[in-house]
Amino acid sequence: MTIDTDSRSVRSAARLRGVVAVPGDKSISHRALIFNSLARGRAHVDGFLASEDTESTMNCLRLLGANIEQQSDGSVIVEGRGRAGLSEASDILDCGNSGTTMRLLAGLVAGLPGLAVLTGDETLRRRPMGRIVGPLNELGARVTGRAEGALPPIVIEGGKIAGGQRLNPPMASAQVKSAILLAGLAADGPTAVVESAPTRDHTERLLAAMGATFDISGTAVTMTPPQGDLTAVDVRVPGDISTAAAWLVAATVHPDAELLLTGVGINPTRSGILDVLREMGADIELTEERTIGGEPVADIVVHSAPLHGIEISDPDLMPRMIDELPLAALAGALASGETVIRNSEELRVKESDRIVTTVATLRAFGVELDERDDGFRITGSATLHAASVDSSGDHRLAILGAVAGLLAQGETRVNGADVVAVSYPGFWSDLDRLSQD
Ligand code: S3P
Repeated sequence: MTIDTDSRSVRSAARLRGVVAVPGDKSISHRALIFNSLARGRAHVDGFLASEDTESTMNCLRLLGANIEQQSDGSVIVEGRGRAGLSEASDILDCGNSGTTMRLLAGLVAGLPGLAVLTGDETLRRRPMGRIVGPLNELGARVTGRAEGALPPIVIEGGKIAGGQRLNPPMASAQVKSAILLAGLAADGPTAVVESAPTRDHTERLLAAMGATFDISGTAVTMTPPQGDLTAVDVRVPGDISTAAAWLVAATVHPDAELLLTGVGINPTRSGILDVLREMGADIELTEERTIGGEPVADIVVHSAPLHGIEISDPDLMPRMIDELPLAALAGALASGETVIRNSEELRVKESDRIVTTVATLRAFGVELDERDDGFRITGSATLHAASVDSSGDHRLAILGAVAGLLAQGETRVNGADVVAVSYPGFWSDLDRLSQD
């Protein structure tokens, strides 16, 4: 008999209680490493998210010559020697499961001399890269990849990046915007990105603190690189709202819950889940609002509350909560009435096709929902029954299955459970700690 260690059991909890010091923001942790590696000076990154995805970024940057040290307290020190401190990697850059690593590093190496080959795990090698290959070629790098540049591995010959360009990516993606801006740092003039909808702005905030100049007008972001190198800056990474979202939804839909989530980043380009849950009737209170490292942060108190279904479809809202939409679908299943999620076709190109995998997961618990090309239609007031679900190698889906399991009668199994380490290595122990009999 073999014991499947990559499988977890979840039981319904009578009560959810406790405090979660929300782990560091994944998007900001990647950026703090990448930008400080390119900068000149010593930077201390506090609150860094140690996870499989950020480790992929760290390993790739080290191959490019960066000097990064993890401290025993979990913080990280990056000793930047400017652009000249980075050089051609002597091996392929393995981005693991991380789309952010691949797309942002593609932008970085596009502006460095030499050749770079970027690959990743089976999941990442299925994800679309044409969205960065096209723009980076337009900027002057020579980039190609499997399936005519559509899929990883991708190969980049860093080039002379031409300034004065204005690019209009067809999809609203902070990863694409950031890849273009990173390449643009190597140009001797400004680079503009015009987005179809505003996306998370951590890149702009951090690069501005390091010496780049930004002119932002609507969804047009124009960056002028500094004269010389970026200046290293210390970063205090706020808690990740995408991680907090699991507890926001769990506590809201659970009949007897009170949770305090501390140090959560509430950057308005990320806080769509707060707006949506409140519109559905959630009892969410923000306290101790403050700014940490140029990012707005709050402690959040969340109590159980009855929800009602809504339509979630504003194209400007989608990038503000793209990673939280599977959890929003669960909230819809437990709300009264119907919830419709539209304009979210980007879910199909995440770590799994999250429209397909969310439908399969929630159906296994007995939820009635239909798949749409660009989202879901969910019948509310579901009674969840325990299920055996598979993460499909997607951290957000493993967490969705676990949160649903907390609400379901009986014993739920989440298979492929270890994948939570991609973004939230402490998830299973936090789940145990907050669940009370
Ligand atoms: C991210 C941007 C989003 C998000 C991803 C992290 C980032 O992807 O889904 O988890 O750090 O820039 P897209 O920019 O492709 O939408």
